[in-house]
Amino acid sequence: MNTKEIASKYKIIINDVLKALDEYSSFFDLIIADPPFGIDFNKSCHEYGADGFILYEDKFEGDDYEKFSYKWISKCYKALKPNGCMYIVSGWTNIGAIINAIKNTKFVLKNHIIWFFEWGVFTNKKYITSHYHIPFLVKEEKSYTFKPQYSNPKTKRKGFKYEKDVWYWPKYNRGNDPDHIKGHPCQLPIILMKKMINISSNPGDWVGDIFSGSGGTLLACRELGRHCISIERNPDYLEIINKKVRIDQDIIFKPDEKLEVEKKVQTGLDAF
Ligand SMILES: C[S@@+](CC[C@H](N)C(=O)[O-])C[C@H]1O[C@@H](n2cnc3c(N)ncnc32)[C@H](O)[C@@H]1O
Repeated sequence: MNTKEIASKYKIIINDVLKALDEYSSFFDLIIADPPFGIDFNKSCHEYGADGFILYEDKFEGDDYEKFSYKWISKCYKALKPNGCMYIVSGWTNIGAIINAIKNTKFVLKNHIIWFFEWGVFTNKKYITSHYHIPFLVKEEKSYTFKPQYSNPKTKRKGFKYEKDVWYWPKYNRGNDPDHIKGHPCQLPIILMKKMINISSNPGDWVGDIFSGSGGTLLACRELGRHCISIERNPDYLEIINKKVRIDQDIIFKPDEKLEVEKKVQTGLDAF
């Protein structure tokens, strides 16, 4: 293999995040976390008529959600390298608990990103939820990976290389997303994962997705030549993850060249 080509090494761990993260210390360059919402999501899924999903436990009592958040965020701090970064994707309902938990750790909160999207559950007597909160955290105030992408990919003009804290993909359509897969109820788009990965890591870096769900971050890592540890508690999602991340295909990343998908059969675990 050409030295400029990167085959992503990866590992899917089926375990509770609080146990799985204990294996890692100063290891990750970037962690992405899309935690359970803590809103008894199973119940709302049924209320909204969303059938055909494998659901997961999402119920927390009292201040248990904040205590749980503090535990996994602290473990992430230890698992990250000194110049590592973390993004936490959260709905609005429990963002207060997450921010409180962050404040009790040593993380530096660099930005509070809003991702605006145009789908949601129609509601007559309140506003339709059309955004996620994404706190961006670093371990060291000044030393971390941050590589703005071109705001205008067509012109790539100098001076237009800034990133804003409101994200929006007007052309993204969840209904036509080829990577959206049947079976997991709350999948994030690969385009979102790729933005975080491109800005806050380099090819060959280690990325952790600590609430893997359908495995979108792992797919994005494979396509961008990053290595990835994907942690998910529910074993029922393993089949979905394997399918979504195209475990039966080699995906070779060539920096500055178009992605090439090879047809040879090999699992990423072999390369680990
Ligand atoms: C909001 S979903 C993540 C969805 C994912 N971003 C995607 O695009 O498919 C949260 C996931 O975390 C998992 N989970 C919940 N509690 C966990 C825990 N303690 N340890 C590991 N995974 C957990 C759930 O089973 C669920 O798949």
